[in-house]
Amino acid sequence: MQTIYLIGFMGSGKSTIGVRLADKLGKSYVDTDEFIVNTSQQKIADIFKNFGEDTFRNYETKAIKEVSNYEVVSTGGGIVEKSDNLQIMKNNGLIVYLHASFDEISNRLEKDQTRPLWKSNDEEKLKLYRRRLSMYKQYADHIVHTDGKTVDDIIQEIENYIS
Ligand code: S3P
Repeated sequence: MQTIYLIGFMGSGKSTIGVRLADKLGKSYVDTDEFIVNTSQQKIADIFKNFGEDTFRNYETKAIKEVSNYEVVSTGGGIVEKSDNLQIMKNNGLIVYLHASFDEISNRLEKDQTRPLWKSNDEEKLKLYRRRLSMYKQYADHIVHTDGKTVDDIIQEIENYIS
C-alpha cells in the first residue's frame, strides 16, 4: 500500500484524523511532529527557540524520509515549505490535504500556546495561511473540506478516495 500523507495548516485535524483513519484501516501510523520530539528529545517550541526554524525544517525533512514505511503519516503544517519533502511524499504515496477555513482554524487554536508560528499577530497568521493554502492545493492529490464535518465524515471521504 502507498503511504497516505495528511497535509494541511496547523489545527486542521491532521493528527486526530490520522490516528482514527489508521485505526479504522488497521494500518501503521506516525505523526512527524511526534517523531521529531521523540527522536530529538526536545519540544518543538524549544527547537524553534534554541536553534530557529531552519533547524526544525531540517529535522522535518529527516523525519519524512525516515517514516516512509509507515502507512498513514500526519505531517506538520510546514511540510510544504521544502520541495524535497514534497518530492519524497509524491514518490512514496498519496497526499491528502485537509482544508479548514482560516476562521475555523482561528477558533480551534484560540488558546493554543504550543505552536511557535501561531504566536504572531492576526495579519501575519492570515498571510501565512494564504501563502500555505496555494501550496497545499498545488501538491494535494486529493482535497477534503473539513469545516462543519465530523471526524467520521472526513475519514469516510478519505476511505472513498483511496478505495
Ligand atoms: C508548523 C506546524 C506544527 C509544527 C511546527 C511548525 C508549521 O505542526 O510542525 O510548530 O510550520 O505550520 P501542526 O500542523 O501539527 O500544528
